[in-house]
Amino acid sequence: MLKLEGSYICGIPERAHYQMYKSKTHIALTALFIFSSTLSFSNNMSSFYSESTFIALVILSVVLAAIAALLFGIKKHLTALQNEKIGTETEPSFYDSKIKPITSKWNPTIATLVIAGLLMVVLGGFGYKFGMDEVGVQQGYSPTQPINFSHKIHAGQYEIDCKYCHSTVEKSKSASIPSLNTCMNCHKYVKAAEKYNGKTSPEIQKIYDAIGFDGDNMEYIKGYDQKPIEWVRIHNLPDLAYFNHSQHVVVGKVECQTCHGPIQEMDKVYQYSTLQMGWCIDCHRERGIDSENNAYYEEVHKNMIAEGKDYVTVAENGGLECSKCHY
Ligand code: HEC
Ligand code: HEC
Ligand code: HEC
Ligand code: HEC
Ligand code: HEC
Repeated sequence: MLKLEGSYICGIPERAHYQMYKSKTHIALTALFIFSSTLSFSNNMSSFYSESTFIALVILSVVLAAIAALLFGIKKHLTALQNEKIGTETEPSFYDSKIKPITSKWNPTIATLVIAGLLMVVLGGFGYKFGMDEVGVQQGYSPTQPINFSHKIHAGQYEIDCKYCHSTVEKSKSASIPSLNTCMNCHKYVKAAEKYNGKTSPEIQKIYDAIGFDGDNMEYIKGYDQKPIEWVRIHNLPDLAYFNHSQHVVVGKVECQTCHGPIQEMDKVYQYSTLQMGWCIDCHRERGIDSENNAYYEEVHKNMIAEGKDYVTVAENGGLECSKCHY
């Protein structure tokens, strides 16, 4: 860079200007670098930052900041020119009298580190919290199923008991999805043909095609290569967690709807609860166990009466122990 001894830019000795420019740019560039790398780091943790609105906002703020800096520079330059022309010394600006004496004593490297550190704490903390709260949470998840099966028709309108189809829910850990044979108990005859000009409903035809049923002749096709319907799983806990339906539905007497929402009103099932650990824990802290009508809890009930309590929460009964829910 060509330097002229004693030259001035915007009323500041050129050398000082150059140094000031250098340290400020130094700080700004490093901060920008840390900012963008924190963003890309957080991007791996959460889907939030990848949202186009956020990126647009970042670009917009950079552009606005650049315009602001430009305008500020022009204003400063014009003021300096004016002062030169009139030849009067105006009052030093707030920045020159109050802020500059302080910032000029700052070491650029230390200042950069402080700014970068603050940015990292704020953005990193935000990204971490978001990652913990939102990543892997499938609340509201509602995939399209291979057959347009409606709980609103079956469990709502026709009031078919949940357990007719989810037949293992009271006996085992899993609620299970019914086999096509269960559907055929009704759909061998129920073809919803009134809706389709006397033809079998295309959705019900899918059951026939999978299981090998000839709806016209009302008979199963011999030697048919059956293909199962591949229902898309909606609720899915990670392998590290253990959940048992019968324990909750039979022993705990919790309604399906408490955890799954108004299924009987859903044309398409969606995940109603978060299924996060905090969700399990919150209910265990609140809910009481039914110690009175349960032989298994006779001992608990006796202790409860001895202690003058009329309520023992799942938590007090050991429902917060890690090993109860984690293998
Ligand atoms: C006629 C049979 C039938 C009845 C009755 C029925 N379901 Fe279902 N249920 C299914 C089928 C088939 C699926 C899989 C397709 C789907 O997700 O819609 C399913 C899926 C579900 C799912 C989502 C499973 C997953 O993948 O995570 C829940 C939860 C559920 N049912 C709860 C209920 C509740 C609660 C009731 C009673 C109010 C009920 N069901 C009544 C057949 C039935
Ligand atoms: C207990 C009897 C019963 C069982 C079991 C049953 N359904 Fe149904 N289903 C019905 C009735 C009744 C209708 C309403 C038919 C109508 O609208 O005319 C219906 C309607 C349907 C429809 C809508 C048809 C249309 O185009 O309007 C589909 C799809 C369907 N059922 C799929 C299934 C599947 C898949 C299963 C097994 C998981 C199943 N059903 C089990 C009784 C049953
Ligand atoms: C205390 C909360 C709770 C209650 C009550 C509950 N469920 Fe579930 N349900 C869950 C959780 C959690 C999962 C996911 C389980 C997994 O991924 O291992 C689930 C999964 C399911 C599934 C998917 C298949 C499976 O077994 O994983 C079906 C179907 C289902 N529930 C039906 C029912 C029905 C029907 C009832 C009522 C009779 C019911 N649930 C009551 C919490 C509950
Ligand atoms: C809506 C309330 C509710 C929710 C949500 C709930 N639970 Fe429970 N849970 C209960 C009740 C009530 C019992 C007590 C059953 C009994 O009387 O033994 C229980 C008992 C248990 C037990 C047995 C505890 C013991 O001391 O033997 C385990 C394990 C358990 N739940 C796991 C889970 C997991 C995992 C989840 C989340 C995926 C969950 N629960 C969500 C209500 C709930
Ligand atoms: C009532 C049941 C329950 C109890 C008690 C419980 N957990 Fe969990 N925990 C879960 C469930 C369900 C998940 C999965 C939730 C998810 O995917 O967000 C989980 C997830 C976790 C994870 C993984 C976190 C993640 O985001 O992937 C850790 C670690 C964990 N639990 C530790 C513990 C420890 C330590 C304890 C004992 C102090 C404990 N849990 C007690 C139900 C429980």
